[in-house]
Amino acid sequence: MLFSDKFFLSSAFLLTVGDARPTDECSKSAIYVQTNANDHNSIVAIPIQSNGTLGAGVLHSTGGKGGNHLDSMTLQPVAPDGLLSQSAVAVAGNFLFATNAMTNSASMYRINPENATDLSLYGEYPVKGTFPNTVAASLKHNIACVATTGQTNGISCANFDERHGLGTFDALRPLGLNQSTPPVGPPNTVSQVAFTENEDFLVVTVKADPLTNKPGFVAVYRVEGKRVSHDAVRSSPAGTAILFGFDQIPHTNKFIVTDPSIGAAILNLNTKTSDVSTIKAINITGQAATCWTTISPATGTAFVTDGAVDRLVEIGLNDGGIVNIYDLIANGNSGLFDLRAVGEFLYVLAPGKGTTMPSVTVVKAKAGKVVQHLSLAGLGVTNNVQGMAFYR
Ligand SMILES: *[C@@H]1O[C@H](CO)[C@@H](O)[C@H](O)[C@H]1NC(C)=O
Ligand SMILES: *[C@@H]1O[C@H](CO)[C@@H](O)[C@H](O)[C@H]1NC(C)=O
Ligand SMILES: *[C@@H]1O[C@H](CO)[C@@H](O)[C@H](O)[C@H]1NC(C)=O
Ligand SMILES: *[C@@H]1O[C@H](CO)[C@@H](O)[C@H](O)[C@H]1NC(C)=O
Repeated sequence: MLFSDKFFLSSAFLLTVGDARPTDECSKSAIYVQTNANDHNSIVAIPIQSNGTLGAGVLHSTGGKGGNHLDSMTLQPVAPDGLLSQSAVAVAGNFLFATNAMTNSASMYRINPENATDLSLYGEYPVKGTFPNTVAASLKHNIACVATTGQTNGISCANFDERHGLGTFDALRPLGLNQSTPPVGPPNTVSQVAFTENEDFLVVTVKADPLTNKPGFVAVYRVEGKRVSHDAVRSSPAGTAILFGFDQIPHTNKFIVTDPSIGAAILNLNTKTSDVSTIKAINITGQAATCWTTISPATGTAFVTDGAVDRLVEIGLNDGGIVNIYDLIANGNSGLFDLRAVGEFLYVLAPGKGTTMPSVTVVKAKAGKVVQHLSLAGLGVTNNVQGMAFYR
């Protein structure tokens, strides 16, 4: 299955992005997003330079196709947020994984540790179910898991290794959502899969369906041996509904989760029973669509983004209090999406609305200070862009 993606890297694909200039120096760290393009999905690998700013991005084809969910009123394809997920790309060790929504597949790459924008594609692998929109990988167990949220939906996992890439995805662990392909949303769709810090549990968030009174839920699967258990423990934490992106609070069994029905919540995973319960529901005044989050090692706080309000909201993890609100409206974004905290910085994806260009804003986490606003439009990236992962 090992085939090279180099033939896609014609000169047309090696355009630089925004104000970033190509450099002769190899960057050992990078961020990755996926274009989620309907005709030809690609990874955009963007080097992190030694001062934290981003260099010129490079496109790598995934071999698959992206997709867009349908609006529940008009049944027309929706962008941005075609995938309705956090973590449409994931990194574990020297490996990068991505979902391809409309080819029901996942792609795996090896990251060159000397040059983190240099990716070698192992291949594109069929997953179980339709419309995969989020992926997680465990280096400890050599397992990658993909969630699908179309007509056939659930979780399937495959082992991977450095020589062969991904193996065959195992049987679907059904989530039982009554959906179509592409799915109609945002309600009643999968939001994110992630392994816990110790990689011994796989956690999945699913949004409620208010129309049919189905609550949102967190599904928790144990990893047993080198396999993810077939059955999950499901919980609907009090005060939450549209459970979206989440991140684990380091060295605890607690999570910050976003929820566009209120803002966010801090949840606790009971590792004996696998039940998830609410520690604190967090109302964010003025929020419209709080869907993505990351915890910064520099501040020890969480940052959440809103797909419809151009600001970063910083949340304290002890009490769930709002610490700071940083307005990013000066960048002309129309909402902020997936984000990652790396060292002192936050890398925040803004898809644009078609009129404003897709971009990544680099923010110093401690002061909320914007240090770079990088347009991705030069690479042909559209407002379908989705996901974020980093390699360091
Ligand atoms: C960061 O480093 C890059 C590459 O060396 C340089 O072009 C840029 O001006 C620097 N930016 C800041 C804010 O120091
Ligand atoms: C790093 O890899 C990218 C993608 O293959 C390539 O375009 C770039 O030239 C490489 N950088 C160096 C300094 O070799
Ligand atoms: C599934 O959804 C369709 C369309 O909304 C509806 O007609 C059907 O009754 C639902 N099926 C079940 C089992 O809820
Ligand atoms: C959040 O706000 C809603 C509506 O304003 C209110 O009903 C609810 O009690 C608040 N929850 C918390 C945890 O403050």
